[in-house]
Amino acid sequence: MLRIKNLSKSFNMGTDHEINIFNNLNLEIEKNKCTAIIGSNGCGKSTLLNIIGGSIPLDQGQIIIKGKDISKLREEKRALHIGRVHQTPSMGVSPSLTLLENMSLADKKGQNFTLKKLIKKDNIDRYVELLKALDLCLENNLDTKVRFLSGGQRQSLSLVMATMKLPDLLLLDEHTAALDPKTSSVIMKKTNELIAKYSITTIMISHNMKDAVEYSDRIIMLDKGQIVLDTPSIHVTERELIEIYRAKLEQIVA
Ligand SMILES: Nc1ncnc2c1ncn2[C@@H]1O[C@H](COP(=O)(O)OP(=O)(O)OP(=O)(O)O)[C@@H](O)[C@H]1O
Ligand SMILES: [Mg+2]
Repeated sequence: MLRIKNLSKSFNMGTDHEINIFNNLNLEIEKNKCTAIIGSNGCGKSTLLNIIGGSIPLDQGQIIIKGKDISKLREEKRALHIGRVHQTPSMGVSPSLTLLENMSLADKKGQNFTLKKLIKKDNIDRYVELLKALDLCLENNLDTKVRFLSGGQRQSLSLVMATMKLPDLLLLDEHTAALDPKTSSVIMKKTNELIAKYSITTIMISHNMKDAVEYSDRIIMLDKGQIVLDTPSIHVTERELIEIYRAKLEQIVA
């Protein structure tokens, strides 16, 4: 489904602050599967998702989705096929617009429209159904401005908006990290339900080993931009993963 071929990326090239993040990285992501990416702070996880999503250009290599090289495609064009949920609840939604306006905007992705014609009454029942599935009573607040929602409610809305057009690929960058443990667990379960229901190919970055083991099909560990572990999730336990993680961190500190 997704192939990353010979990806190389450095930041601040030619300066004293030059950092080489990826050097000929190769990776294939299977269709309809959830792949978790784990690894220590700064190992390149978000950079990888940003390169796939198109918000950061690559230096060399190719990003191929469904056989098509999208490396040169602008971020807005890629967004037609790639859904994203970020770590910060303020990203991915427009706080000054209502839930209905936000969902209508997500629904119009890639289409030309006037603001006057943004909301189509025929679609409201579908939006209500999508929100109902979250069990957060958001369907009763369609006219509430998103800035009044809690972080968990915003992340849930963001998730619904990222998936409502059934993207070829869903990118989750620590999307529950800013939430309290209980809300984080609720949102993770809802995410899993959505991904499973629509068989959405997903890459999920997480620092939560339990979530990685429980909710993904495959786990990839990055270390300094390299894949140091690539395993079916059923072959590792949370405990083993933490031990591997610790051992890697100790190598870094040593
Ligand atoms: N736009 C940028 N310009 C310069 N350096 C950057 C940029 N984006 C990321 N970096 C650097 O690249 C490295 C990898 O960052 P990245 O955000 O990919 O790490 P990460 O694995 O997502 O870490 P975390 O777990 O803390 O989110 C870091 O050293 C970071 O400072
Ligand atoms: Mg990150």
